[in-house]
Amino acid sequence: MRVLVIGNGAREHAIVWKLSQDKNISEIFAIPGNAGIAQIAKCIEEKMDNIQGIIDIAKEYKIDWTIVGPELPLSLGIVDIFEKEGLKIWGPNKEGAKLEYSKAFAKEIMKTSKIPTAEFKIFDSFSSAVEFVKKTSYPLVIKADGLCGGKGVKIAESYESAVQILHEYMINKIFGPSGEKVVIEEYLEGKEFSLIAIIKNGDFYFLPSAQDYKRVGEGNTGENTGGMGSFSPVPWINEEILKKCEKNIFRPLLDELTKRNINYQGFLYGGLILVRNEPYVLEFNVRLGDPEAQVILPLLNFNFTDILYRTNFPWLSDKKALCVVLASKGYPGNYETGKEIIFKNINFQNLYIFHAGTVKRNGKILTSGGRVLSVTSWGENFKEIRERVYNAIDEIYFENKYYRKDIGIELI
Ligand SMILES: Nc1ncnc2c1ncn2[C@@H]1O[C@H](COP(=O)(O)OP(=O)(O)O)[C@@H](O)[C@H]1O
Ligand SMILES: [Mg+2]
Repeated sequence: MRVLVIGNGAREHAIVWKLSQDKNISEIFAIPGNAGIAQIAKCIEEKMDNIQGIIDIAKEYKIDWTIVGPELPLSLGIVDIFEKEGLKIWGPNKEGAKLEYSKAFAKEIMKTSKIPTAEFKIFDSFSSAVEFVKKTSYPLVIKADGLCGGKGVKIAESYESAVQILHEYMINKIFGPSGEKVVIEEYLEGKEFSLIAIIKNGDFYFLPSAQDYKRVGEGNTGENTGGMGSFSPVPWINEEILKKCEKNIFRPLLDELTKRNINYQGFLYGGLILVRNEPYVLEFNVRLGDPEAQVILPLLNFNFTDILYRTNFPWLSDKKALCVVLASKGYPGNYETGKEIIFKNINFQNLYIFHAGTVKRNGKILTSGGRVLSVTSWGENFKEIRERVYNAIDEIYFENKYYRKDIGIELI
C-alpha cells in the first residue's frame, strides 16, 4: 500500500514514523515534508493549500491512502474533493472541519447538544461587542472565529483591554476575515488536557490523554506558542473523567453531527479543561495536536493502517511518553534560521527525534523554522524517560537552540 502524508511538522514526522513500522505499507510519500521526514519518506514539493496540485500528485504516484496532518487543507475541503475523485483519505470533510475553522459554529453545536463549555456570546459587529463588554465581569476570553494559527485567543482583564482586542480583531482586522466574527466567553479556571478520539462509522475511540505546554517560558510564563513540550498519558485523568468525556462531550457531539447529516471521520481533538472535576470543552480541533501526536503515536499498539480496517482501537499499555521541543531562540517572535544542526552521541534506545523546521542543503541539516525538533522518548517511568530526553538534548547542537527545562517536572 502506498500512503501520502500531508504536512511538514514534527506531528507529520511522527505519523510517517508510525507508518514506517507498518508491514502493510510499501512506500510513504509526504507533501511537502522536511529533512527528518525525507529520511523515511519521499518528499514532494507542493503548497498545502493547492488541493488540485495535491490531487494530481496522489494520482501520479498511485497513492492508496492519504493522511492529512494540519487543519488548513481540511478547512479547504480536501476530503470532499478527494472523495469525489474516488481517492481514499483520512480526515473530516469540510462540514466536519468547521468545528475547528469556526469557533462560533463549535460553540453553537455545543450549546444545542448541552456539552459543558464556557458561557458565550457571538458578535459580528464591533459596536455590539463593545456594548456587551461594558456590562460584563472580568476576566473574559475573546476568540477570533476563524483559523489564526493559535494566536486568535486573548484573555481580557479589563474593559479597556477588551475594547483594544476587539478593535484589533474587528476594525484593524489583524487576522483578516478570521477575526470579523468573535466569540466572547466566560473565563474558566481549571487544569487543561487534550483528549483525541478516532472517529469512524459513527463511533469514537479515545487515544491516550495528553498534556502540552503552550507557553514559551519556564513555569508556564511568556507568550503562547504552538507547543513547547508534551507528555502522555496524563496521570490525573482517570477512568471516571474519561467516562464523563465520553458521556457528556463526545457522544452528544457525535449524535448532533449525525442529526445534521455531517458524516465525521478522522481524528477529533478535544481541548478540555477540568473544572471542579467536570470536563469542559475549550475548543475542538479536527486533527492530531502538535506536540501531542509525538507522544501519543509511540504509545499505540496498533498500526496506523488499522484505522482503515479495524473497528476498535485498544491502546491499553503501561507505556508513557514525553517530548521536549527544541526551538530557535526568539520563537514565537522573530528568530534566525539556516543554522547547522549537529547530532552527537545520542542514545536512540526508546528515543526518536521528530523534525519540524529543518531542511537539508548540501548534505547538512539546517534549521528552517521556529520549532525545530521534537525530542521524544517512551518507556515505563516518566523519570527515566525525561532523563533520556534531556540527555539527548545535550547532544544536539545548533546556534540559538532554545528549549524549556521544566517539561514534565511535575511528573517526578
Ligand atoms: N474559556 C476559557 N477560560 C480560560 N482559558 C481559556 C478559555 N478559552 C481558552 N482559554 C485559554 O486559551 C488557550 C487557547 O484557546 P483555544 O480555544 O484552545 O484556541 P486556539 O488553540 O485556537 O488558540 C487555551 O489553551 C486556554 O489556555
Ligand atoms: Mg487550543
